[in-house]
Amino acid sequence: MTDPQLVLTERVQSALAAAFGAEFADADPLIRPSQFADYQANVALSLAKRLRRQPREVAQSIADHLTDFPGTVEVSGPGFLNITLDDAWIAEQANRVFKDPRLGVGVNTPPQTVVIDYSAPNAAKEMHVGHLRTTIVGDALARIHEHLGNRVIRQNHLGDWGTPFGMLIEHLLDVGEDSAVARLEAGESSAFYQEARAKFDSDEDFKRRARERVTTLQSGDAETMRLWHVFMDATIRYFNKVYAILGVTLTDDDIAGESMYNPMLAKTCDELEAAGIAVVSEGALCVFPPGFTGTDGKPLPLIIRKSDGGYGYATTDLAAIHYRVHDLKADRILYVVGADQALHFQMVFATARMAGWLPETVSAEHVKIGMMLGSDGRRFRTRSGESVKLTDLLDEAIERASAAIAEREPDEEARAEIAQAVGIGAVKYADLAVSHDSEYIFDFDRMLAFTGNTAPYLQYATARVRSIFRTGGVDAASVTGPIILSEPAERALALQLLGLGTVVERVARDSEPHRLCAFLFDTATAFTTFYENCPVLKSDVPEETRASRLALCALTLKTLETGLDLLGIPHPERM
Ligand code: ARG
Repeated sequence: MTDPQLVLTERVQSALAAAFGAEFADADPLIRPSQFADYQANVALSLAKRLRRQPREVAQSIADHLTDFPGTVEVSGPGFLNITLDDAWIAEQANRVFKDPRLGVGVNTPPQTVVIDYSAPNAAKEMHVGHLRTTIVGDALARIHEHLGNRVIRQNHLGDWGTPFGMLIEHLLDVGEDSAVARLEAGESSAFYQEARAKFDSDEDFKRRARERVTTLQSGDAETMRLWHVFMDATIRYFNKVYAILGVTLTDDDIAGESMYNPMLAKTCDELEAAGIAVVSEGALCVFPPGFTGTDGKPLPLIIRKSDGGYGYATTDLAAIHYRVHDLKADRILYVVGADQALHFQMVFATARMAGWLPETVSAEHVKIGMMLGSDGRRFRTRSGESVKLTDLLDEAIERASAAIAEREPDEEARAEIAQAVGIGAVKYADLAVSHDSEYIFDFDRMLAFTGNTAPYLQYATARVRSIFRTGGVDAASVTGPIILSEPAERALALQLLGLGTVVERVARDSEPHRLCAFLFDTATAFTTFYENCPVLKSDVPEETRASRLALCALTLKTLETGLDLLGIPHPERM
């Protein structure tokens, strides 16, 4: 264990047990970074009441029992414990992390099977900015769980089935297969859908054909299935284009769309009905999970078979849970999906628990994704009010990044490469750096800024550390240290670099990638202060100081690279 917060938590807990009895051994010592010392522990204030003693007295008693402690403890104010770590201890831990190829990040044993449902665009509509965010957050979580040694199963729950496909297939026949395919591949599914919809609303003959097509599709008619595949394959090629530009790890093997569950839906309903969990209400088969009521106070139904016999989104999700638990053997299922679907997932999870398809040992978690807003504070749209085509948005990000770096990078080829990494990195990082359930305004200027908690700032910081090694003609991989601490900025940087393992574990536990972003930002900031105050390559720097500072640089570089890789943010070699 190298993370000071964890080490201190453990030590303070033993002191609590020694001072007040074993029942206090797992009280949270409430250790937080502090401006007066390295850390402050506020546990004495919260325990004083329970112990019927003065907080300062409690604090003093904890301090007296802190033995074998790598630092000094002082009681201050109403009963805070101010904790300062010994430089030697920080240096020792820093050297340990420096020598550890995993930089203090543990490996989960035994590994968990984590199913991550993310991206999930709809083929019949459009892939919009909301899907961009679920894609990026989900992909970061997948990378992080894999890094921790978990078995990750990505599930791209595409909206690839349902009644709209009747009119989409008929429209595809009307415009001709080749031309339809070309447009779908180019990402024009939204316009394609609207045309089909307009015909459906105005043309009786088209409407009749579309309805018949739904029936033949549901019966699995061979020619209709072929047309469905033509439509889906072209659409998926567009999705893959977007994934490739984004550097997202999803592949065709991860596709598990709604259509996949189609053969299981009748059985899903039958089982729920036979178990008495689902009942027919107003012609529809419904589940009324306890605790869910509408505004009128009446129990809220989860409709699993409509009165016309059709199945819906909820039925598919119930079949999917069964599959994920029973076939994929999930320990944990993460649904990285828009926050507006919270009620849907609560009701689906409750129903699955009632049916025994989701045992208590398996956790199902909705990682709620907040809406992306335009500068007007409403759902992000283009000026003409349509939703924004993703490839256009990403192209614009790259163009703007290119303009932003034009001055410092005159070479065109190099600039194109950097602009790609900065533009895409900026869009992705903006989605990751705020808590996933908060709404935020899409703002190119802010995400592309070279200052603040942005991708360009971190990419630049990473490139700058690399340039130190280039300038000094030193191979970062051959640096051996050891790290010794004398300057405050060295000490602060070293302390910061001890934290990667804890933050990565925490991100996986709470599904909160923004904590890793904040950690990397703090790391880059600590490095900047260090570099301004502590010369590394200057000729008058003593040999062992130089070796130590190069080791701090190398550890910073590895930490930033690992963190950015886990978030899926590219880091160009130079900037
Ligand atoms: N296709 C859905 C949408 O765009 C998201 C699907 C999320 N996953 C799920 N298992 N329901 O809103």
